[in-house]
Order: sequence, then structure tokens, then C-alpha cells
Amino acid sequence: MEIRTDFLIIGSGIAGLSFALKVVPFGTVALVTKKEVMDSSTNLAQGGIASVFGQNDSFDLHIKDTLVAGDGLCNKDVAALVVKDGPTRIHELIEWGVQFNLSPADATKGSNITRAFDLGREGGHSHNRIVHAHDMTGQEVERALIERIRSHDQITLFEDHIAIDLITYSTRMKRGLITTTHEDFCCGAYVLDRKNNQVKTFAAKATLLATGGAGKVYLYTSNPDIATGDGIAMAYRAGATIANLEFVQFHPTCLYHPEAKNFLISEAVRGEGANLIDARGNPFMQNYDSQKELACRDIVARAIDTELKKSGDDCVYLDIRHRDSEFIKQRFPNLYAKCLSYGIDMTTDPVPIVPAAHYMCGGVVTDMSGRTDIHRLYAIGETACSGLHGANRLASNSLLEALVYADRAARQTIKEVQSIAEDEVPALAAWDEVGTSDSDEMIMVSHSWDEIRRFMWNYVGIVRSDKRLERAARRIEIIQREIRDYYWNFKVVPDLIELRNIAMVAELIIKCALHRKESRGLHYNILYPQRDDQRWLKDTVIRRSYLG
Ligand code: SIN
Repeated sequence: MEIRTDFLIIGSGIAGLSFALKVVPFGTVALVTKKEVMDSSTNLAQGGIASVFGQNDSFDLHIKDTLVAGDGLCNKDVAALVVKDGPTRIHELIEWGVQFNLSPADATKGSNITRAFDLGREGGHSHNRIVHAHDMTGQEVERALIERIRSHDQITLFEDHIAIDLITYSTRMKRGLITTTHEDFCCGAYVLDRKNNQVKTFAAKATLLATGGAGKVYLYTSNPDIATGDGIAMAYRAGATIANLEFVQFHPTCLYHPEAKNFLISEAVRGEGANLIDARGNPFMQNYDSQKELACRDIVARAIDTELKKSGDDCVYLDIRHRDSEFIKQRFPNLYAKCLSYGIDMTTDPVPIVPAAHYMCGGVVTDMSGRTDIHRLYAIGETACSGLHGANRLASNSLLEALVYADRAARQTIKEVQSIAEDEVPALAAWDEVGTSDSDEMIMVSHSWDEIRRFMWNYVGIVRSDKRLERAARRIEIIQREIRDYYWNFKVVPDLIELRNIAMVAELIIKCALHRKESRGLHYNILYPQRDDQRWLKDTVIRRSYLG
């Protein structure tokens, strides 16, 4: 079955949804998402969106904080454009129906647009600048955007559709035989309709990757199950350039509880004064950074990792008991309720936490309009490497980046799509599964999933060494070989598609991490503990047959 569309969007987080709303007046839109439309990392985002609204704040200060966090690798022009566009994009969200918290003094007067926001604080920020909707900002944004998406007839939503591979013009129309050069252009994707077990061909004038991150590459992650690096893996296989995958951000504070899966305790809790303490009740952040609990994430996550290794404890604790209990319940209703459901009362108990994989600072390399180096293929949000985050993302800059780049990519694709005639989208071959049969050994798939996530956590985590990375490299090579054999012989199923992607991204993370012989931002190697600007003040760039 072939579906022809002007704009193909893969992913339904803030990046994909806001892009869809921008391009819909200019053509047909197919929005493909793996599970339900709400299943995205955006939906779990608690903290908020960083932007300059505070009285003593300025664009220059926000840019400076972004660059300091990025540890020398941010693109300064990108940082300036993202920061300066922030207020406009946030006002646009309000026009689309998003309700942010207002400062208590202003909560009862004026229109939403002119009132002052209740601005939160997070690590690495010199000022309060986090615009938020209680502790459920992403959920509120998704709610409003989806409501608008559903009101447009021109947008067709394909839920339970999982993209397998991009289709580029020189594809020999047979699975796996993608032979791209940089003159190629992207003309859509093969997508598995998981309910009907059918692979559909999507032919598009412009294709946008907005598939989010790849936290599921790691055993412990704050990410939802859909975060399997699909966009990065598909773009790499199609020949696009990828960068900086060694910079995996570990969020310092995920709930540690046997029944809690992926539950983040927002950095905003530390922004409201919570302290980190060890099992004996001793604070420790003063030993690591003068900003203590509000140091950048890489520093806090490494500090916790060091404390846990020293003490042999399973977790440390986040302690906000000194704040008024009504304030805690009102500011963090979601966190309070969730912790309580596990028997932890944030107002009277310290909350057990551990770091977990949270955000990919690297991704598919794009220009300032979200263009990749394959024509007609765009990438925005966590999937992309725009140059904003450098070696470490500043808290709450991610939703901001996604919004700004959705706007910029939309402007560019609209121009491009309008210049492409109908007959310039080639006829595409249907998915070919000749010679494949139903899998008889799903155990291979589930075992490889487990193995990858475990050795990535143990060998390619917060603290790395060449020895551990080489061990991981040897393991991923074997698993990749097994996956390739398996993939050729059996019909595709969602778990296999995702396994192929997490294995691909794991391999790329390992290669990038082995390549960088220094420590910078989120990449820490005990053999090279210092930052080395003379040799490594540059991105790690990787594409098929190239690493440099
Ligand atoms: C958080 O609420 O701590 C997450 C915000 C972010 O990842 O920027």
C-alpha cells in the first residue's frame, strides 16, 4: 500500500506536532507515530521551557549559561538564535491553548499573554527562567497541540505505525540495499502498521525526523519505551552525517524504587531548594561544585555516581522536607502523588534517587533550518544535532530548541515542497519480503535487547575508560552480526525494528566515545580526565565509512 503526501512527519512530540501545525496550510501532512500520539518524551517532560522573561535576566545571560553548559562545543550562532526566538515561540504556544503557571501576584489579572510567568530555576541557569505548567509541562503542551492537530482534516494521524527505513532516490528498492550518495534525496519511508502487520510505503516531498532520543539504549533511563533512537539509526543507514553521540546526558535524579519505571524527579525540585544527601543524611554536593545542587547535570550526575561507588549504597536521597508542605503539594502535584503512590511522602521523607540516561546531545547533523545533508530530509528536536547543546545540554533548553527548529524547518520545507512538482516524487517499489518467514526465535531479539542495555550501562555510562569501551565495542560487533542475519531471514516485527535501531545507536555511541581522547561535558574517560582544547575542541562526526 502506498500513501502519497506532501509532508511526512515521523514522531509526535513537541517537535513533530508543532511542525505539523505550521506546514498544514501548505499541503497534505502524514504524521506517523509508533504507539499512541501521546507516547513521546515530551509528554514526560516535567521541568519546562527555558526562556528569558525575568526582570533581571537577558538573552546574553541565557546564551552564556547555554555555552558554559556546552563546555566549548556549542555553536554560538545557534545558541543566540534559539534563545532570542524563545519568547515568541512561547507566546505562540499560549495562542495554541497551552496554559503555563503564572506568578502568584499576576495570576488573577490581564490576558494570559501579558501576565508574568512563574519562572522556575534549574541547574546551570544563572536566573529563574523556566516557564512551566506545574510539574507536567510536557503533558500540557502535548494536550494543547494534539487538540489542534485533531481539528485539521489535512493532517492524517497514523498511530501504531513504526518507521523501518527511509527511502532515498537511489535505493534499489530492496530492503537493506540502500546505496545513497550525497546527491540523493529522500522521498519517504517504509513504515510497519503494527496493528495490521503490513508494511506501507509513504512517498513524500519532504520528510521530517522528529523521533526523539535513545534512552532505551541504557538499562536505566528516564525515557519512555518509544525512545529507541529510530531517527538517528534510519538517517545513518541512509547515509546522513551524525555527530557527538558520546554526549549522553544522565539525569541526576530518577526515582529509585523497585516498582517505579522511568520516573524522573524534576530538577525543578532542586531549583526550589532540595538538597542531595547520602544514606546517612550527609549533604555532599559542596565537595564537588560551588553551585552545589544547582551545578550542571554532568557534574551532579558524576558526583552521585562517585558517592555511590564510594559507599556501595544503592541510591542517594533528595531532601525537600524543609519547604512548606502545602507549597510542595501545590508546586509538584504530579511528583507528590507519584511518590506517595510508592509510599514516599515528599513533605516528610527524603526521596531515594539514582541517575539515569535522559537525553542525547548528539544526533543527525542539521543546518539552521533543520536540513540534514540528504536533500528533502529534515531532523529536529532530540533526534538532531543542531549545535545548540555542545557537550552538555542546559536544563529545559530541549523543548525550546524543538519549538524554534520546528518553526525554522517549517519555513524551509514549505518553500521546498512548493517548488517540487508531483511527478518529481518517483514511483516507489513496495516493501519486499520475499524469502522471509515468521520469526521462530524471538528469544534472540529479547536477549539482545537486554544484553545491549546492560553493557551500555556498565561500560558506556557516566564514567568510561578505554578498556570498558573496547569491551562494549567487541560485544556490539557480535550482536550486530546476529541482528543482520536475523533481519534478512525473518519478517519485520516492532521489537526487531527497535532492536536494530538501539544496536545501531549503541554502536555509534561507542565509536564516538572511543574516538574522543579527553573528558568534556558529558563524556568522562578516566584515562583522559582533562579537557584538551588543543586536540578536541571539535565535534565528533560520523557517517558510513567516516569517523573524525
Ligand atoms: C527536569 O524536569 O528535570 C527535566 C528537564 C530537562 O530535561 O531539561
